Amino acid sequence: MNEMEGAQRQEIQMDSQRVMLFMPAGETEPSHRLIQGDATNRDVLQSETVDLTVTSPPYNIGKAYDGYASSDSVDYDAYLRFTRAWLANCLYWTRDTGRLCVNVALDKNKNGKRPIAADVTRLALEVGWQYHATIIWNEGNISRRTAWGSWMSASAPHVIAPVEVVIVLYKGAWKRKNQGQSDIGRDEFMEWVLGNWEFAGESAKRIGHEAPFPIELPKRCIKLFSFMGDTILDPFAGSGTTLVAAINGFRKTMGIELESHYCDLALKRIEDECKARLAYSPLESQRESIANCWTL
Ligand SMILES: C[S@@+](CC[C@H](N)C(=O)[O-])C[C@H]1O[C@@H](n2cnc3c(N)ncnc32)[C@H](O)[C@@H]1O
Repeated sequence: MNEMEGAQRQEIQMDSQRVMLFMPAGETEPSHRLIQGDATNRDVLQSETVDLTVTSPPYNIGKAYDGYASSDSVDYDAYLRFTRAWLANCLYWTRDTGRLCVNVALDKNKNGKRPIAADVTRLALEVGWQYHATIIWNEGNISRRTAWGSWMSASAPHVIAPVEVVIVLYKGAWKRKNQGQSDIGRDEFMEWVLGNWEFAGESAKRIGHEAPFPIELPKRCIKLFSFMGDTILDPFAGSGTTLVAAINGFRKTMGIELESHYCDLALKRIEDECKARLAYSPLESQRESIANCWTL
């Protein structure tokens, strides 16, 4: 147990899983937890404990995640079985009227073309999620392509839509059962409900993870689709971007990540980012709250 300024950080082994818990001063339950585990294992979390999941699963395009390279390029049918398993688990972990935002590419072009966003949406509906919308995310900074197929010929031109999407799903009913306090501004709301988002992607090198998303993505989903104090999950936590965004937005967080190395990175990032935020949080109460959680 690590203790400083009343906050506690505890690392434990549960059923051979590494679990990192964070408990703000004066509270008896941990507000944030990161589990080194497998998102296809339903038992890693309890049922009906999540209000909103924001995640970007492995895309199955051979990304060299540390220790995970082989399974990111599995046979597509195996990838769909994996997708179905974690989507079903998320439904089990989500409270009634909770929500799920899945960030994937629109199409998969490597190792054969696949309608990945359409397949994830179909599987989500099959396991019991309800569909709300698909947000288009246009990363202005992705490189221009040069593989044209048959150049200026109808023979076999290659069409690529260089966008990703955020598929928005919900459990039960779209209107939230438990109301709460929102923290979204007027301009943010008006801009973000137009489901055509444009902001830059994140640099893998800067973060030290193979495929991080920019904090802007979970930040928007969290402010638009959850109340302050809600519990936010990322079952593919990677470098911890969703957890950082959620903590900065005064939500509780849970993360699952398979790789020990990425769990370490996520912990460090969470602490660094939240300490940095301390410097410019406008309100004394906000600074105290962040310090209590993360100055460990
Ligand atoms: C696309 S990355 C997520 C990146 C994250 N959004 C970020 O900003 O850092 C997918 C992550 O899922 C992890 N992963 C792969 N299979 C997993 C599984 N079965 N359970 C939990 N995590 C897994 C990989 O190690 C990788 O870090």
